[in-house]
Amino acid sequence: MDANNYECSIDFNKITDLVKIGTGTYGVVFKAVYDNRTIAIKKFNAYGEMKNVERELRNLKDVKHANILLMIGDSWSDSLYSLVEFADGGSLDCFLHNPPLTEYTLNHIVNWTLHAFEAVAYLHSSSDPLVHGDLKPSNMLLTDHRRVLKISDFGSVRTEATTNTNIRTTAPYMAPEIAGDQLPSPASDVFSCSVILWEMLSRKRPYDDIKSSWEILSLVEKGKHLDLKEITMEYPEELELLITEGWNVNPSSRPNIISFVTVLRSYFNEQKLFDADLSI
Ligand SMILES: Nc1ncnc2c1ncn2[C@@H]1O[C@H](COP(=O)(O)OP(=O)(O)OP(=O)(O)O)[C@@H](O)[C@H]1O
Ligand SMILES: [Mg+2]
Repeated sequence: MDANNYECSIDFNKITDLVKIGTGTYGVVFKAVYDNRTIAIKKFNAYGEMKNVERELRNLKDVKHANILLMIGDSWSDSLYSLVEFADGGSLDCFLHNPPLTEYTLNHIVNWTLHAFEAVAYLHSSSDPLVHGDLKPSNMLLTDHRRVLKISDFGSVRTEATTNTNIRTTAPYMAPEIAGDQLPSPASDVFSCSVILWEMLSRKRPYDDIKSSWEILSLVEKGKHLDLKEITMEYPEELELLITEGWNVNPSSRPNIISFVTVLRSYFNEQKLFDADLSI
């Protein structure tokens, strides 16, 4: 198997050693072995027109970036399966919130967000911009002793395959205009990035005390944003400004993702983080 070549309709019998590792909106994720290599494989819930999901997956096969999880191929058995690179550090969501909690510093955050936001900037940069549409810590996976972060689960595969039963986990990251039925856009991705930065800096789940997704969405729509006082860590002032502009209710008032990358990149260079050991 060539790491750069997406394989359509892989023989399911060649995928072995399946062990369930997670459940999400679309279905179940397993760790497995294919072609002598450990992979992750997602089984889509049989919902709607699975041929559309297959087509959307294949549409994304040429998206290549060091910080986007590599898509290996697809396979049919009792349902549609998508094979992707396995991330041995698990999701950022697990790392941030599931015990045992490991300490991390602003340097780790700068490194992880640079990886994530550069990948988002890559998606937004094409002439017909691709939108992630579901940025949240469970769609950010860690590898290489958690030095490297890669984003996953983007594009319209999500809209084709979701049943919306999992909206509570997505609502805190959702820009108000999306709740108002507008299509995801680069500006709605930026909204999600601001919330994720707040979550990494505070190590708190956004709107954790609010149980209904409807209530979160209506608060956000009224301009009630997360509280910066929940962040006890020191961090650059320019970043604070970007976070607050990024979760502006008005999408056209939000900065673009490049502004985040620029601030993070200059901090990374000033602190000489290229020489730092950021494994954890
Ligand atoms: N490529 C992967 N490598 C390692 N672990 C993975 C991989 N993909 C997913 N996981 C694990 O499986 C879990 C479930 O993933 P899944 O994408 O199905 O759900 P989710 O990200 O929580 O929500 P959503 O369905 O909205 O994306 C993740 O939270 C992560 O812990
Ligand atoms: Mg996911």
